[in-house]
Amino acid sequence: MSEARYWCNIIPRIMKLRISVTSFITLFVSFSVLSLSAGAGREGLRAPALEREFYIGAAVDMKPFHEDEEYRNTLAEEFNVIVAENAFKFENIHPERGRYDFADADALVAFASEHAMKLRGHTLVWHRQLPAWITGGEFTREEAIEILRDHIETVAGRYRGRIWAWDVVNEAVEANEDGFRRDSFWYRTIGPEYVQMAFEMARNADPDAILYYNDFDNEGMNSRSNAVYRLLSDLTRRGAPVDGVGWQMHVPAGFRIKKQHRENARRLGALGLELSITELDVRIRMPAAPDAYAKQAATYREVTGFCLSEPACRSLVTWGFTDRHSWIPAFFPGEGDALLFDYDLQPKPAYEAVRGALRASLLGRPQIREARIEGRDLLIAGGAFDRKSAVFLDWRRQKASVAKAQGNTMLLIRGAAARIPPGQTVSLYVRSGDGKLSPEFRFTRTGDGADDGNTTK
Ligand code: G3I
Repeated sequence: MSEARYWCNIIPRIMKLRISVTSFITLFVSFSVLSLSAGAGREGLRAPALEREFYIGAAVDMKPFHEDEEYRNTLAEEFNVIVAENAFKFENIHPERGRYDFADADALVAFASEHAMKLRGHTLVWHRQLPAWITGGEFTREEAIEILRDHIETVAGRYRGRIWAWDVVNEAVEANEDGFRRDSFWYRTIGPEYVQMAFEMARNADPDAILYYNDFDNEGMNSRSNAVYRLLSDLTRRGAPVDGVGWQMHVPAGFRIKKQHRENARRLGALGLELSITELDVRIRMPAAPDAYAKQAATYREVTGFCLSEPACRSLVTWGFTDRHSWIPAFFPGEGDALLFDYDLQPKPAYEAVRGALRASLLGRPQIREARIEGRDLLIAGGAFDRKSAVFLDWRRQKASVAKAQGNTMLLIRGAAARIPPGQTVSLYVRSGDGKLSPEFRFTRTGDGADDGNTTK
């Protein structure tokens, strides 16, 4: 949406507030002073996120990254994880056969390191944004496998130890009989095996990176998410090195988290996978209706609260952070203003909603202080438990009952001993009835029955 249209859209709403000219000027001046200082004085989202051992971030458009200091400063102040919107994609980083261009990727790696940010790598294997030498070429299956191997080993190898999580494969499924997208160069030249190959090549190139499968419209319980679940079940059953699944979440304002999202998160967690929201944006039909930004804020609040209260959900990244630089208007004509900051890099109600959810997740968080096996049961001692507390072993939810005798400081998980063989370590979490999640508690069942556990944080 053009700048002019943005102001045409905003000013009438301000004037509708029937602010007299004088008070409007006073308000405008004080607001400007306030907002000028807010950038410097505002506590960024990264502060409560880190306190919560959570990662909140944004995709980076390298054009404003290079040209706009305020853009860079906002990134550094606000977020503790970033991802390149396009710089790591095949067409940009490997534009010609045998030639790589790492300039933008190197710049972002350096920026993330300078500002103690995690970096997501997006994406090693995708059917889109491939260079002409690939899409216009004729390759045998073996040649295509070698191209895949060379690309992954070169790119993931170069950034070994500096990429927190790779979107190894992006958008490979289709809701059809074999579950794979057919209009993919990789599927057509190699076959469906390319997915497992890519993960194995990535693991070899960077053993410490968390390896993700990333997709869209795979958040609820639907034909696409079932195809993703089938793919990931198959890969994990075969022992493929897949660690996580990305939900892109490009959604309209008004989108709500439903029971089916928790169901889907749970079944993915039960595969031993972590979850991240990888490309969140909440688009608005323009010109924005008076309640559009409040509806957008409600969606951001709910999605953030969901990720904060799902043990498997590690991070939340928005696809860009300012409405001035977003893919939405070009790809969704008539829609826009999908991000946390407006054209002038000022926080919107959506930003306050995300910050509120982060801060709320800290207040009155349940705490686990001790865990021990008693007979066939697991006993957890701590605080801020309630009747609706849910206990998670790793990411598998367990039916817990509050041990009556001790009020809200003990939880009993009957029969849990059988799920933790001697010598095994599990991550324990307690989620309170209002969705607050305890810090992770690492519990190791020692062989001699004298069990011990310790809180990692
Ligand atoms: O860089 C060229 C520029 O030189 C040229 O003048 C211009 C003319 O069209 O094109 C520019 O390239 C554009 C590129 O973004 C960089 O801005 C491409 O045309 C455009 O197609 C490309 O769009 C990207 C889109 O993926 C491609 O599918 C968006 O920026 C990017 O936000 C979007 O991101 C994807 C994720 O990677 C995967 N999930 C979905 C998400 C949205 O499609």
